Amino acid sequence: MNAAFDLVVRHARIATASECYAADIGVRGGQIVQIGAQLGAGMREIDAQGRVVTPGGVDAHCHLDQPMAPPVRMADDFDTGTRSAACGGTTTVIPFAAQAKGQSLRAAVADYHHRADGKAHVDYAFHLIVSDPTPEVLQHELPQLIAEGYTSFKIYMTYDDLKLDDGQILDVLSVAREHGAMAMVHAENADCIEWLTKRLEAAGRTAPRFHAHARPMLVEREATHRAIALSELVDVPILIVHVSGREAVEQIRWGRAHGLQIFAETCPQYLFLTAEDLGLDDSYQGARCICSPPPRDASNQDVIWNGLRDGLFTVFSSDHAPFNFDGTEGKKPGGQEQPFRHIPNGIPGLETRMPLLYSEGVLGGRITLEKFVELTATNPAKAYGLHPRKGSISVGADADLVIWEEGERVIRNADLHHAVDHTPYEGRRLRAWPAITLSRGEVVWDGQFHPRRGQGQFLHCQPPSLWPRR
Ligand code: URP
Ligand code: ZN
Ligand code: ZN
Repeated sequence: MNAAFDLVVRHARIATASECYAADIGVRGGQIVQIGAQLGAGMREIDAQGRVVTPGGVDAHCHLDQPMAPPVRMADDFDTGTRSAACGGTTTVIPFAAQAKGQSLRAAVADYHHRADGKAHVDYAFHLIVSDPTPEVLQHELPQLIAEGYTSFKIYMTYDDLKLDDGQILDVLSVAREHGAMAMVHAENADCIEWLTKRLEAAGRTAPRFHAHARPMLVEREATHRAIALSELVDVPILIVHVSGREAVEQIRWGRAHGLQIFAETCPQYLFLTAEDLGLDDSYQGARCICSPPPRDASNQDVIWNGLRDGLFTVFSSDHAPFNFDGTEGKKPGGQEQPFRHIPNGIPGLETRMPLLYSEGVLGGRITLEKFVELTATNPAKAYGLHPRKGSISVGADADLVIWEEGERVIRNADLHHAVDHTPYEGRRLRAWPAITLSRGEVVWDGQFHPRRGQGQFLHCQPPSLWPRR
């Protein structure tokens, strides 16, 4: 057959960040080469039957095989993590190459490439985590890595092994400004958390639920305010990650109202979990839902939904941080139940991120389909220099596509494809799930997972395209 295309997706209801319309999508060499009515024949054809087709998701905040202090170890590596991503409609992941204190940033990147090489089923880029901004890092390593396509990095205001003080943050933000990188900020006040944790421990309050007591909203509010002030001082945009509720949102609105370029991310746990999921009593079960900042309450969930709707949030990520509940390497380090201080922070969510937001956001009438695409694919691609290759359905873009199927589906961990032994969303009813996920024109999910181990490509990122270059 003399086909015009390798693949044609017919009768699609294409959803982009700006419009929805009906068309066929023609794919050649893994890229979209034509969009229009009644395209010529393809070597392969998929009839989308008027189903919604969105860009493949870009999960711009997830943790895969990130080195941890023993005995703790992440359950997902680049194999199982990207498998899980593909089955939930995500075709690009951006996990973190984390610098340990005393380590060179270059060595952290080399180690992380080693962990990813030959394993990924979908495409991936790296953020950096800067935990030790030495003169060598600030003057040489970070500028060079930015120039090589590592154009975003995360800085922490908490966690002893990662946190930077304000002077260090100013130094690092200055590099972001000079070299055109995106700085992501984990905003929680470390000293307040430590002070509260010690008081809770002295009172014998060490069960998982007290994690939320040690990290009340004001701890996040203060650090968010400070991060905004530091970005104003340096005159550089920042992106506040995993925003949990009202008080941080108010600070971000304040910064925006004062003309500052403050971008923000939120995650499913702040829409679908509350602090009660950490436990109503001293049971250890709540360790599953320990993450930082912690989930808040129903009224804060409403604040987050409003922020998704009205543009306060730029991106919607999973913050997938995969730790098993059982065993010795996850939520019970060494196999023992531990005081909340020693419980690894984070919950799994790569596979459920897109279906949860599609179900409860789009089909629940809370956000438009265009907003869904913007938050889950287009804006993350823009924020981290991957657009328009990723996050868009346009000629020249990679043929990373999700064909959605509406219908009830109950989340069961047994059906998910990560290597984690639980999901915090067990038993939750969804209204949609990807019928087919395509990664550069190849089917990776159609109700079955089709492995493409090692076919996932490393992506060198451009500078962010959310704001004009200076
Ligand atoms: O609790 C969380 N969020 N764990 C993952 C690490 C981080 O700070 O994002
Ligand atoms: Zn964080
Ligand atoms: Zn994270």
